[in-house]
Amino acid sequence: MGKAEIYYFSGTGNSLAVARDVARQLNAEVIPVAPLVERESIDSGADIIGFVFPIYDFKPPRVVDSFISRLANIDTKYLFGICTYGIAPSQSLKHFDKTIRSVGGRLSGGFAVGMPFNGIGCGMVTKDQHARLFANWRAKSVEVCEYVSGGRQGRIESSSLLYGLRQPGLIRMAPSIMRFLVHALFKGVHSFALVTDEHCTGCGTCERICPMNNVKIVGHKPKWSNRCVSSLACYHWCPNNAISLGGVDLNIARYHHPDVIISDMLRPAMPGTERP
Ligand SMILES: Cc1cc2nc3c(=O)[nH]c(=O)nc-3n(C[C@H](O)[C@H](O)[C@H](O)COP(=O)(O)O)c2cc1C
Repeated sequence: MGKAEIYYFSGTGNSLAVARDVARQLNAEVIPVAPLVERESIDSGADIIGFVFPIYDFKPPRVVDSFISRLANIDTKYLFGICTYGIAPSQSLKHFDKTIRSVGGRLSGGFAVGMPFNGIGCGMVTKDQHARLFANWRAKSVEVCEYVSGGRQGRIESSSLLYGLRQPGLIRMAPSIMRFLVHALFKGVHSFALVTDEHCTGCGTCERICPMNNVKIVGHKPKWSNRCVSSLACYHWCPNNAISLGGVDLNIARYHHPDVIISDMLRPAMPGTERP
């Protein structure tokens, strides 16, 4: 097997944990995608490249698409993708394959991995359900790595919308989703802008945890810019639970993958900006 690299994007660690599991089995390096998209072209010396990312609104995060459009010699690589999803993978891996084909490459394998949901209403999903998802992935990870190391082609997983409706917990999430829809209808989606409350200490965790480098502390408070992809990393990792979506209670319980700790997610502090 040739040299392998695993690129990931992750807000709450599900995709990072999956990326690490795969990298361990394939003897590959694990690399975050977001810092690389600032470059005009991305050169990789690997023959096998894997991508691991969450699904946001039925699609891969757009930063992953930006990465693909910058990857040099894409037609010479064996590419595979793994999406981590909370409700249903839907057509997101087919969308990913289309993006890759549009720049001359081809997705040889696309795998969907159910992980704890980290969006609206996720507070209704139980720890037992989380444990079942982790156990399912442990078994599936072996299968995925055998497929990749065997250089196989042609498997791209997807699901119908009905699959999502069968997910345990979805019914219990429904009131929060309804609250979101009604609020969005009457007040507009802009009313869900990220804001802090009086518990914010200006500690700077949000600045360093945002995978898109989209938060700056200005006058001891976070200021969000326009590169947000809705990872909710700032919300979930805030040590004071001081961040909300417009102050609306959408039952988003603070979550991160149990094998991922905050230092795995933090970007290095810029020299001269360290905070106590
Ligand atoms: C803004 C947002 C949108 C999401 N949209 C979807 C979706 O359309 N379908 C789905 O199954 N899960 C969706 N999710 C759940 C995440 O894809 C899932 O929890 C993922 O494993 C999170 O990965 P991470 O911990 O690496 O960020 C969404 C989560 C967020 C925060």
